[in-house]
Amino acid sequence: MNDSLEGPKYALGYLAQQQASELLNKPLSPSKDSIGVGVDIELIQDININNPTFIERNFTTAEQTYCWSRPNAHASFAGKWCAKEAVIKAVSSLHPDWEKVWVRGSAAPLVDVEISMGVSGAPKAVLNGEVAEAAEKAGVSEIKVSISHIDAFAIATAIAK
Ligand SMILES: CC(C)(COP(=O)(O)OP(=O)(O)OC[C@H]1O[C@@H](n2cnc3c(N)ncnc32)[C@H](O)[C@@H]1OP(=O)(O)O)[C@@H](O)C(=O)NCCC(=O)NCCS
Repeated sequence: MNDSLEGPKYALGYLAQQQASELLNKPLSPSKDSIGVGVDIELIQDININNPTFIERNFTTAEQTYCWSRPNAHASFAGKWCAKEAVIKAVSSLHPDWEKVWVRGSAAPLVDVEISMGVSGAPKAVLNGEVAEAAEKAGVSEIKVSISHIDAFAIATAIAK
């Protein structure tokens, strides 16, 4: 081959190799654009904030401090509870037809889904432990949550992508 073509040939070969490797590393499903959604609603009175075991199992110290500081602590605990359940559902719904990622079921403690306050004033979810592992397995890179409470009810929605 003409010596002057050696450089471009090498460059094209390198590019082809890069593209092939990108294609091979791409997931088989269009996971990049998938979105998971979760919602939960609770009667505020069903969240037993007078049970220290329940509180310790499910709420971090920072969450407890925050909720007790709110005008309606019971509603704030219930809202965070809803957000935690909504996050579990959103993670599971990212790929509804993939294998189950959240295998602990309804007896598992939810302290590993921490709902804290962002600087903007909106809540955000920080995942730890087994929930973080499940989210990673599902390919979750980002979660958004929204909480509301009125009268007897609290509700939250979560979106995972
Ligand atoms: C998955 C989970 C969040 C569902 O919560 P729930 O309170 O039982 O369910 P809700 O009444 O809010 O909603 C029921 C609907 O959720 C949906 N759902 C059930 N499991 C789901 C999952 N893994 N992902 C997404 N949606 C789910 C179903 O459609 C169900 O309705 P259906 O039974 O009529 O089909 C719950 O089972 C769970 O695992 N929670 C985490 C651990 C926990 O709660 N620990 C308690 C510590 S005391």
